[in-house]
This record gives sequence, C-alpha cells and structure tokens, in this order.
Amino acid sequence: MSTNTVDNQRKVTTRRLTEMKKNGEKIAMLTAYDYTMARIVDQSGIDVVLVGDSAANVVAGYSTTLPITLDQMIFLASCVARGLERALLVVDMPFGSYQGNPIVALESAIRILKESGATAVKIEGGTEIAPTIERIVSAGIPVMGHLGLTPQSINQLGSYGVQAKEDAAAEKLINDALALQKAGCFAVVLEKIPAALATKVSQALDVPTIGIGAGAGCDGQVLVVQDMLGMNKGFSPKFLRRYADLNDIITGALQAYVGDVKNGDFPSAAEAY
Ligand code: KIV
Repeated sequence: MSTNTVDNQRKVTTRRLTEMKKNGEKIAMLTAYDYTMARIVDQSGIDVVLVGDSAANVVAGYSTTLPITLDQMIFLASCVARGLERALLVVDMPFGSYQGNPIVALESAIRILKESGATAVKIEGGTEIAPTIERIVSAGIPVMGHLGLTPQSINQLGSYGVQAKEDAAAEKLINDALALQKAGCFAVVLEKIPAALATKVSQALDVPTIGIGAGAGCDGQVLVVQDMLGMNKGFSPKFLRRYADLNDIITGALQAYVGDVKNGDFPSAAEAY
C-alpha cells in the first residue's frame, strides 16, 4: 500500500495541510451546504470542505452574502458535518458575527464548533482582524483567513472584480497575509487577485494558500460546488472551470419525469406494490 493511499484514508487535519504544502502536494477544497452533497464530496477525496457564506447566494438566493445569519450557518454546517468522514470541515463566520470585537467573535466561533461539529472557522479580512484571529486561535479554534475579494465588504469594494491590481494594494495584501499567519491562521484563501501576486504570497507564507481566481501558484484551490458542477448557468467568471453540466442533466431528468407522470408512464406495474 502506498503512503498516498494511507494518507487518503486519514482524516485531514490543519497540521496535515501544512505538511501537504511542505511536500508540494496540492490541497483540493470545495464548498458544500447539505448532507447529501457533503457525502459525495467527501467520498471523492476532497481535503477540505467549506460551508461558505456563499450559501446566502446559492442556497438562499440573496444577491450578496450579507444577510445569512450565524444560526443559519450553524444549521447548514451541522448538516454537512454529518456527511463527512475524511475531509476537514471549515465554516465561514457570517457578516456581523465577528466584526464587533474579539470576544463577540470568539463567542460566535465557539458556537460554530460546539453546535455544528466543524473543526475550523474562516474569517474575511487583513491586519485589522488579526487581534480577533489571535483571540479565537488562543481558545484552540483553528482559523482560515480570506484576502483579496472579500464578498462581505461588497458595499465598500463596489464590485466583485479582481483585487490588488495596483502596487500599493498588492503590498498591503502581502502584509495582510503575513499578519494573518502571525496571528495563527492555518491557511489563507486568496480570492480573485492577479496570479503573480498569489504566487508571491504563497511563497512568502509557511501556511498554505487556497486560491479562487488566483492562479496556479497557490497551494490549493477552492470552488463553489454548484458552480463547478454547472448548476448555475448564469455564473461564468473566467476562473470557473465547469466539470459537469448538471443544469442540463437535471432539467432533462425532471422534464422526463413530468412527461412520464402526465402521460401515465410512471409508475409502471413493476414500480407499484
Ligand atoms: O463563501 C464561500 O464560498 C467562499 C469561497 C468562495 C472561498 O468564501
């Protein structure tokens, strides 16, 4: 049995992610928001599952991530946790659950771990959030950082475009990443920044970077599962690779079902008791 096979069966820990970076092994991360998808994602060999606050968009249909609440995130995370055996479960701290002060943030993080069964939380923000991260980490809760496009700040950013294109913003992002590492983050998500900058950040950090729209130089990649499965036809940013066209497949299956019910083909005698 190869070492790889053994590692593939071992539960993924934050320490294991650091080992993976050291060994040059890429980290595969996806979102999930329910038990059924979590089981499928886990069984496919994914290293990290994120219950992202993108649930506000893809589950709840909001146009931003701002409305989703801590209680709603905890409910979704508890559903996902029951579906995982191997992957590390990270849960986004939603808007309003950590910005107030480090104690509010700690209480929110404790609720997430206690009530959902997750292992870690993710927080958007740079240097300004470092004392909060230190407080949460000091309570034994692993924290993943998130820099670049931080969707909870959409009202300040004004658009979901590529971030840190100017030299000053790029330098700030590198300093933010170093501050997050110093504060105790076990990994940092880099969203929608130039690939060259993401490579530079990845080389500057000992902890892994996980990119989304940040190029191949990151230590791992993350996508929203509905997007990469092609369920959301209207969303096609440049960074998104579609691995399936589930929208078409599901629509075809549903139309076939409707047709079968309407014309009396379903259920057949073999499908009845
Ligand atoms: O909420 C989310 O899905 C995320 C990923 C895009 C990283 O934060």
